Amino acid sequence: MSNLLEIRGLKVNFNLENQVVTAVRGVDLDIREDEVLVLAGESGSGKSVTALSVTRLLPKTAEIVSGSVNFHWVDLAKLDEKALVSIRGKEIAYIFQEPTSYLNPVYTIGSQLSEAIMLHHDKTRLEAFKEAVELLDLVKIKEPKRVIDDYPHQLSGGMNQRVFIAMALACRPRLLIADEPTTSLDVTVEAQILQLLMELKKSLGFSLLFITHNLSIARRIADRVSVMYKGKVVEEGDVEKIFGSPEHNHTKELIRAYEKIGKI
Ligand SMILES: Nc1ncnc2c1ncn2[C@@H]1O[C@H](COP(=O)(O)OP(=O)(O)O)[C@@H](O)[C@H]1O
Ligand SMILES: [Mg+2]
Repeated sequence: MSNLLEIRGLKVNFNLENQVVTAVRGVDLDIREDEVLVLAGESGSGKSVTALSVTRLLPKTAEIVSGSVNFHWVDLAKLDEKALVSIRGKEIAYIFQEPTSYLNPVYTIGSQLSEAIMLHHDKTRLEAFKEAVELLDLVKIKEPKRVIDDYPHQLSGGMNQRVFIAMALACRPRLLIADEPTTSLDVTVEAQILQLLMELKKSLGFSLLFITHNLSIARRIADRVSVMYKGKVVEEGDVEKIFGSPEHNHTKELIRAYEKIGKI
């Protein structure tokens, strides 16, 4: 399988007032066409900074010091902001842990979804609304015609995450980056969202980079797993290898952590 995304030697610093913090120290990562890669690691290991570096969605204090991010033979690290805007959302989309931080509380689901659709497509508001209903249907929201008029606070956490997924998939991206999207959900809803993501991946055919500190998720959805520790990828392999013969101590620790809570 060929690579959709190739990160090489990525190094990211945070230039703080009186110190420089290196968050990512030379990360190599491949995401293949049509695969689920789980990027696992403890909190603070550099997973989110790596993910946000792909389309430079980093805070102002962050600096990509070196490295390349090849996507379709284009080095995104060398693209200017204007060129990146056409890739963000359209080719590479994100979902995060707290959908409500990204959904606007004062607009209905329908108007936010249709805005997202119109941003990248030449469509009238009416056409965009129609497509918004279809998107809600795609993410298996029942009664989409009712939910379209709801505000985010009227929906549960799981429903908002479905809306967020719908918005991310509006432009049919080649790569979906999901940064701990189920971490704040209870386990039943988490299972539903994971199942939805797998179904959507199958029907729409995107690659998925799924970030988590919870290796039980890797076991359920991953084709391959990369494990980060202190700003580096310390181990990678297919699910059988990672769980069957983990080599790095941190991988073993992550496996022990979830075996202990009986999630295996
Ligand atoms: N806004 C920030 N300012 C300063 N340092 C940061 C910031 N965000 C992240 N970092 C640093 O980068 C490291 C990696 O963070 P992050 O990628 O968010 O970890 P993870 O997603 O694996 O929990 C952190 O340990 C921290 O030192
Ligand atoms: Mg994170």
